[in-house]
Amino acid sequence: MKVPYKPKSFDLSGLNGISDQTIEMHFKLYEGYVKGTNELTEKISELLEKGTVNQENMPAYSEMKRRLGYEYNGMVLHEYYFGNLKRDGGGDPTAASPFFQRVQGGFGSFETWKGDFISIGRMRGVGWAVCYEDPSSGCVSNHWITSHEVGHIAGYQPLLVMDVWEHAFLLDYKPSEKENYIEAFFSNVDWQRVEKRL
Ligand SMILES: [Fe+2]
Repeated sequence: MKVPYKPKSFDLSGLNGISDQTIEMHFKLYEGYVKGTNELTEKISELLEKGTVNQENMPAYSEMKRRLGYEYNGMVLHEYYFGNLKRDGGGDPTAASPFFQRVQGGFGSFETWKGDFISIGRMRGVGWAVCYEDPSSGCVSNHWITSHEVGHIAGYQPLLVMDVWEHAFLLDYKPSEKENYIEAFFSNVDWQRVEKRL
């Protein structure tokens, strides 16, 4: 059960409205989640190698398993987030774009979908805005994820992932200016990457 993940690298200097300083700090935080995922996985493996989960070690085991959901999703969500940004990205996808057509089919218009996604991002709290595809129907839906692990729809495919923890923008914007960060986020979206996730 050993899962030695290594931090992935992303070339995200020179983004619009999200400073290199923010990105550097954010990469460091992401690396912490990779480390946390590896360390917890190792500790759980050690416990299993020593024997079964029993009454004595169940509290520690339970805490590690719960914590694993936090660290693991913290790692994976950041990879989706960094992965759907690029220098000179942004602009809205064209009407020929498969993603545009998918959200138009589900929400009636791209603007309605975008308004919903932005509104999730504006919600108070610590978490993420995620647009998912239901692999069985192709339907897209937007969801609020609390922290890193609460609110995911099992089996759904993340298409567009936006970090709205304050660390994602505090060096560039005040907490009250979250909307400016969301605007900056959209001006850097790699829509081709989003479409590849469909
Ligand atoms: Fe983050």
